Amino acid sequence: MSENFGEAGFWVDQWKEKLEGYLRAPARAGRFIEGRFGKSVESTLELGAGSCRDSLYLASRGYRATASDFNQQTIDYLSTRFPSSGVSFSADDSRKLPFGDGQFDVVFHNGLIVCFDDDADVSAILREQFRVAKKYAVLLVHNGENAKLRAEFARLGASDPLYRIRFYTRADVERSLQLAGVRYRRLAFHKFGGVADAFYGPRIKGIPNPLNGVAESFVNSLYPLQPWSRVERIAAVAEI
Ligand SMILES: C[S@@+](CC[C@H](N)C(=O)[O-])C[C@H]1O[C@@H](n2cnc3c(N)ncnc32)[C@H](O)[C@@H]1O
Repeated sequence: MSENFGEAGFWVDQWKEKLEGYLRAPARAGRFIEGRFGKSVESTLELGAGSCRDSLYLASRGYRATASDFNQQTIDYLSTRFPSSGVSFSADDSRKLPFGDGQFDVVFHNGLIVCFDDDADVSAILREQFRVAKKYAVLLVHNGENAKLRAEFARLGASDPLYRIRFYTRADVERSLQLAGVRYRRLAFHKFGGVADAFYGPRIKGIPNPLNGVAESFVNSLYPLQPWSRVERIAAVAEI
């Protein structure tokens, strides 16, 4: 686990270097939210939004999207860069949110609680997430059941602190929710990310990919076909 994840300054530097790449990447979480909930939800809140790519996508699809991150500098930059996106940008610490109870239909984060070693921080985030969520809370975490992915992150983490994260199994997610003491009606785990994402790229194993222009229409439907040991992230959907 990287010792710098808790410092906003660390993220300012990370985003200076990596923001454009993240903005170019497919908005997988946004598409997941849209595919899962469709028109049954209107407002979304993204915590630890970073590049805010997924909230930008959701706003472009007609949702009332709010993107929140404790990194004021990146939030300021993105709100200036995307003034007409429809996204409300908000600089907050996810452990203490300024929003009202049940203010958003869906509250999600992707790669946020993987940044915390200390269960007290994870619990604080989950409690705030569930407090401000009206219908659904969605947690996207790196899949601890994928040994190959863990090994790859361990290797990359030697030179890049961004890869020194905490992995979660499905049992770990349930334990974290229990520890936080949050309440929900139902919890479902979905497979998110994996080899099918190769269809988003211009080439697959060096061969031009003729499907990359239409990848968003089918990639999500391929994720469930993988065994859990090959899945990149766990999408945990709690119905409030
Ligand atoms: C790995 S990045 C998430 C990337 C984002 N989902 C995306 O796709 O661009 C983690 C983000 O969490 C933010 N973060 C870390 N600790 C936070 C906290 N306590 N409150 C709010 N945001 C936090 C960081 O600033 C960073 O942007």
